Amino acid sequence: MIVRNEQQMKSIRDAAQVAATVLDRMCKLVTPGMNTYDLDQHGRRFIEELGAESACYKYQVGSRIYPAFTCLSVNEEVVHGIGSLDRLLKEGDIISVDVCTRYNGFIGDNCRTVPVGSVEPDIQELLDVTEASLYEGIKAACKGNRVGKISSAVQRVVEKAGFGVIRDFVGHGVGRSLHEEPQIPNFGKPGNGPKLREGTVVCIEPMVNMGNYRVTMSDDGWTAMSADGSPSAHFEHTVIITKDGPEILSVPLGKEAPVLA
Ligand code: MF3
Ligand code: CO
Repeated sequence: MIVRNEQQMKSIRDAAQVAATVLDRMCKLVTPGMNTYDLDQHGRRFIEELGAESACYKYQVGSRIYPAFTCLSVNEEVVHGIGSLDRLLKEGDIISVDVCTRYNGFIGDNCRTVPVGSVEPDIQELLDVTEASLYEGIKAACKGNRVGKISSAVQRVVEKAGFGVIRDFVGHGVGRSLHEEPQIPNFGKPGNGPKLREGTVVCIEPMVNMGNYRVTMSDDGWTAMSADGSPSAHFEHTVIITKDGPEILSVPLGKEAPVLA
């Protein structure tokens, strides 16, 4: 687990702010009738305008190379969806917009799931519960706590609502590369995992299915989908563990950090 010095913290702060600003701008564009390729291209433009680079474009896993600039996952898609001209957003859909950018050598990573127009109350509940689980996880991200304290806090909120928390993807440390130690599962026991240290930067990112937590992979080799076809939500922040507690770094330019009540 990497502990950052002041200079690095400043850079990570800037990188996370850029990622949050891009995410904020993209979410404002989400409307019925738009296709997800165009939304991704807007993301590409926002990233360029801010002097950053996409950290998912050309991201490689084995022999597979990620072809898009942001990850856009609609309805039953869980993560890593690829924008497509054929995928038209319609009223009542939800879309997870996941933005990870590299800026001055450091990565910022954040995601939120937003409604397309107005959505059914049970879908809105899925979004609210997933976001609430993220905030409960963040509140557990204090020095001296084990990673499992975050995991169990997230899991408790999700399962209390009767939803399924995904096992196959986890949160992660972040810095010069996108995925660093430690892994941050969204399920588990408070006493498990390594102890969190002051100066560590982590991405906490609950992924939640309305139904069962199991996922299947699409033929494109990237898009993960809920196995039962139920809608899925994903919220993520980049967070630094300070001596005074967790601090959310993925806050858009000109905005205040959300209050951790
Ligand atoms: N934010 C995503 C994650 O942490 C970014 C993945 S990059 C991709 O997994 F190329 F795999 F899409
Ligand atoms: Co992430």
